[in-house]
Amino acid sequence: MDFGCGVGHYTIPAAQAVGPAGHVYALDKDGRVLQQLGAKAQDLGLSNIEALQTAGELRINYPDEAFDVILAYDVLHYPERREPLFTEFRRVLKEEGFLSVYPKHRRGDHPLPSLGRMFLDDVIEEIGQAGFGPKRRFYERLLHDDSYNQGIVLNFSRRARSWR
Ligand SMILES: C[S@@+](CC[C@H](N)C(=O)[O-])C[C@H]1O[C@@H](n2cnc3c(N)ncnc32)[C@H](O)[C@@H]1O
Repeated sequence: MDFGCGVGHYTIPAAQAVGPAGHVYALDKDGRVLQQLGAKAQDLGLSNIEALQTAGELRINYPDEAFDVILAYDVLHYPERREPLFTEFRRVLKEEGFLSVYPKHRRGDHPLPSLGRMFLDDVIEEIGQAGFGPKRRFYERLLHDDSYNQGIVLNFSRRARSWR
């Protein structure tokens, strides 16, 4: 499940990675980006993406343990409070699944420094409070809007471990 999927920079590769037998659930509050995602998926012949427009609520309208993987990429700077979202992520993630976050727009980040209000340590703390343990972290070249930048991706599991 790709929460705040936008036009699908990460939804499309995820759909390609899981293949025709898998599904990617793409959630966004903006119907226009979902239309662009739908057009792109059609061009690429991908029929395993299920797009859902939400009203921006942090309640995720899926049953407990619905998903193997949750992506929250370049979206964590949006909600006023992130804790309810992390609690929902834990509820809808399978026991063996993992949560992957790309916390873009941290304090001092570029571009758009005015969006950068959160601190990485706070995000890690909040995710831990919601019942996740660290799994893996990457510092990689990542797609942000239409250009690349270096960024951090953190993966968390429902079982406490330590960073690899
Ligand atoms: C900056 S874009 C990132 C898109 C994509 N994840 C990426 O990394 O390229 C953030 C997206 O999250 C969506 N979004 C923000 N808050 C949301 C919420 N509460 N529920 C659903 N979508 C949300 C926005 O509409 C926007 O399309």
